[in-house]
Amino acid sequence: MERVPIILILLLLAQATHPLTGRQIAPVMSADGAGWLDRPEREAEEAPEQALDALGIRAGMVVADVGAGTGYMSLRMARRVGPTGKVYANDLQPEMLQKLHAKSQREKLSNVETVQGTESDPKLPPNTMDLVLLVDVYHEFSQPQAMLDRIRESLKPDGRLVLLEYRKEDPKVPIRPEHKMSVAEVKTEVEAEGYKLDQVIEKLPRQHIIIFRKTSPGA
Ligand SMILES: C[S@@+](CC[C@H](N)C(=O)[O-])C[C@H]1O[C@@H](n2cnc3c(N)ncnc32)[C@H](O)[C@@H]1O
Repeated sequence: MERVPIILILLLLAQATHPLTGRQIAPVMSADGAGWLDRPEREAEEAPEQALDALGIRAGMVVADVGAGTGYMSLRMARRVGPTGKVYANDLQPEMLQKLHAKSQREKLSNVETVQGTESDPKLPPNTMDLVLLVDVYHEFSQPQAMLDRIRESLKPDGRLVLLEYRKEDPKVPIRPEHKMSVAEVKTEVEAEGYKLDQVIEKLPRQHIIIFRKTSPGA
């Protein structure tokens, strides 16, 4: 068997960083963590309905939940957009999507479509979304620039990209540093991919709500 050079092994073990900010990219959450996503304390820690109120999600909207996990936000959005709207629930991991699908069936929510994506492409239809939501996900993207490019293509000209990320600026937020982001980091990384920061909302207990629009509406 051919011997793999030690330097190559070290490079593979080294944690990836974002080329613009040097931010350490967090590993993708394992599907074993699915139970943690549905923990009851999350309601108080993240105030999910307050987050969706702030985003003005209305009946008839078409939205995507990228990195949806077990559907903590997808199902809440599905109830809000109603039968005339639609939620595309995307994730890398089929185990997450299976749990999400089972929950939406139990609740008889027929407006949720699960989509399995790749590390570089969420596989969403182009020019379709009023809003793409990333909740505690962006910091895990192993190829953030490619993901942002594909997400931009999926947005309608006036569509919004929304990131919810634990506040790195606040040392009291009890989350590991690579799972938190500052507004400055998010702005630098996302604006470089054809977006403009529109609004930062600070009304959640632990997370920033950071809203972007496309810089070139036709793109
Ligand atoms: C911390 S969980 C958050 C799940 C969900 N957004 C929530 O708030 O409950 C992160 C999720 O992002 C997914 N993920 C990571 N990188 C991804 C990518 N490039 N495309 C799609 N999903 C991704 C993981 O599989 C995992 O389910």
